[in-house]
Amino acid sequence: MRVLTGIQSSGDLHIGNYFGSIKQMIDSQGKDEVFAFIANYHAMTSVHDGERLASLTMQAAIDFLALGMDPKQSTFWVQSDVKEVLELYWALSAFTPMGLLERGHSYKDKTAKGIASNHNLFSYPVLMAADILMFNSDIIPVGKDQIQHVEMARDIATKFNNMHGDVFVIPEHRVAENVATVPGVDGQKMSKSYGNTINIFGEEKKQQKVIKKIVTEAVPLEDPKEWEGCNVYNIAKLFLNADEAKELQARYERGGEGHGHFKLYLHDVVWEYFRPYREKREYFENNQDEVREILAFGANKAREVALPVIEKVRSATGIQY
Ligand code: ADP
Ligand code: TRP
Repeated sequence: MRVLTGIQSSGDLHIGNYFGSIKQMIDSQGKDEVFAFIANYHAMTSVHDGERLASLTMQAAIDFLALGMDPKQSTFWVQSDVKEVLELYWALSAFTPMGLLERGHSYKDKTAKGIASNHNLFSYPVLMAADILMFNSDIIPVGKDQIQHVEMARDIATKFNNMHGDVFVIPEHRVAENVATVPGVDGQKMSKSYGNTINIFGEEKKQQKVIKKIVTEAVPLEDPKEWEGCNVYNIAKLFLNADEAKELQARYERGGEGHGHFKLYLHDVVWEYFRPYREKREYFENNQDEVREILAFGANKAREVALPVIEKVRSATGIQY
């Protein structure tokens, strides 16, 4: 089973990205054939400062390697290193009705928030379809917000196949049930664009500050507290096994502790969880030439899969003459 995902290098990675996508990817190495890339072309829709985008892309690569991406077992690359994807994007555009893109939640949400809409924001799902179809992907693990984009890739692929024969594998999305949407510090979906994130590799003081800001109910210290629906609990449980989660529930129910205590606990849990990864991260941060070599190796592996697909597309669409 080939499992593929991309993560945009548009900001620091947060625990929503981790549980919603990165961890699933890393855990499935060895079971599935993992294809993972840094979507820097997609990040161009929101990051217009070139120096910043270049740096975010390198930082995201370092984060992935630190978190356990194994470049030998998996195929791991930067999107722009396999440029054939842009050619496929154009070919697929001819099979993408305007109405399909106009119904896109992500595009509609962003424009409703007043984010200036460029053509690349509008046509973003076509590039995402190209990412998916270029590599014969079977499964796309995503957070709930991305399901529609995978559906669009299926629609576009089906239209193309109906016309030209079985060129593309039709992909399916996969959402991990218990972590479908990780809440942010304000209780909304955690997202870089909402400024409500707990970052994977932030500074300790900053993380403490952010966790202190988590919105909780005002209940007297001695009273029992609701853990169900509590943002602190809901974030903590992602890091806990069943016994640890039960223990935390009991502390809520017992009373005598305030949300401040639970926030301190949450900080410790998150900090400890990522400790070994932080150490690995430092190694890659100090050895960026090695990171570049790993990425070039990954791009070559990815291109080997992409070339026969793009050849078929060229020949089917009459671009090969
Ligand atoms: P952001 O919303 O911070 O910009 P992205 O859109 O770059 O994050 O998402 C990268 C990946 O992480 C996607 O697969 C997305 O579905 C997943 N993801 C992002 N935020 C969350 C969240 N709060 N809960 C679960 N998954 C998430
Ligand atoms: N759109 C995805 C996101 O914002 C990132 C992405 C780009 C992606 N191409 C992809 C995810 C292909 C899965 C498959 O999260």
